[in-house]
Formats: sequence, C-alpha cells, structure tokens
Amino acid sequence: DQVYTPYEAIGGADIISNLVDAFYTRVGEHPELAPIFPADLTETARKQKQFLTQYLGGPALYTEEHGHPMLRARHLPFPITPSRAKAWLTCMAEAMDEIELEGEHREQLFHRLLLTAQHMVNTPDSEN
Ligand code: HEM
Repeated sequence: DQVYTPYEAIGGADIISNLVDAFYTRVGEHPELAPIFPADLTETARKQKQFLTQYLGGPALYTEEHGHPMLRARHLPFPITPSRAKAWLTCMAEAMDEIELEGEHREQLFHRLLLTAQHMVNTPDSEN
C-alpha cells in the first residue's frame, strides 16, 4: 500500500504555499509580530514554504538551500516572548481557517507547530 507523508496528505506544494501566504499577510498586520519581521516578507515566506515542506515529510527544500534548520538558533536574534508565540499561533490558526484546512491533518500540524513555537521562546514577556 502507498504510504502518504503528511506533506502529501495535506495537499502538497499548493496548499503549503496558500497557507504560508495567508499566514504572513496576518503576521505583517499584527502589532506584536510586524515590528520584529522585515517589512518585505517575500523572502521570509519563501523560506517558510521550503521549511514546512520538509517539516511535513516532503522534499528537503530548506536544507538543500540553507543547511540545517537550527530553528531555535536562527530565532535567537529576535525577542520571542510567550505572547509573541501565542500571536504567531493565532495567525497560523486564522490562516488555516482562511484556506479551509480542516480535520486531523490540520490538528496534527497545528499541534506540532504549537510545540515548535513554544521551543522558540527565548525572552520573558516582561522583557518585551
Ligand atoms: C524566521 C519570528 C516561530 C520557522 C523568523 C524570523 C522571525 C521569526 C522574526 C526572521 C524573518 C526574516 O528575517 O526573514 C518568529 C516568532 C515565532 C516563530 C515570533 C513565534 C514562536 C516559528 C515556528 C517555525 C518558524 C514555529 C517553524 C514551524 C521559521 C523559519 C524562518 C523563520 C523557517 C526562516 C529562517 C531563515 O532565515 O532561514 N521567524 N518565528 N518560526 N521562522 Fe520563525
């Protein structure tokens, strides 16, 4: 039997692209997130599409171009507070709503992203 990766199950490159675009539209408008991101999110979105592709078991596009993700290390230059992690996840949930990503694939992806987002926290809310 064919075994599907989460990448395939979710709908592949088109779905990831739509999700990431809907997500960064919200990030760019979010009062807590926008100030720590570049004004032009084109390159950020391109990298996130590559990353999520491999995170879900698709081709290792991020690593091929940028090397090991080392995500926590790559986020250390930015003050990631618990409040910003929550905001990031809210933007993601709204993006999932917008593209109508539903059911168990949505829940599994969101749960993994929740754990990854918590792992990125490097600054207490009080030092924000
Ligand atoms: C890059 C913020 C969580 C994946 C970035 C950048 C910021 C940021 C400011 C730099 C953007 C740029 O210079 O282009 C945050 C905040 C988070 C968070 C506030 C809240 C917890 C996550 C999570 C993931 C993730 C959960 C993975 C699922 C990435 C990737 C990049 C990135 C792949 C690009 C790294 C690179 O430059 O190669 N993030 N992030 N981030 N973030 Fe996050």
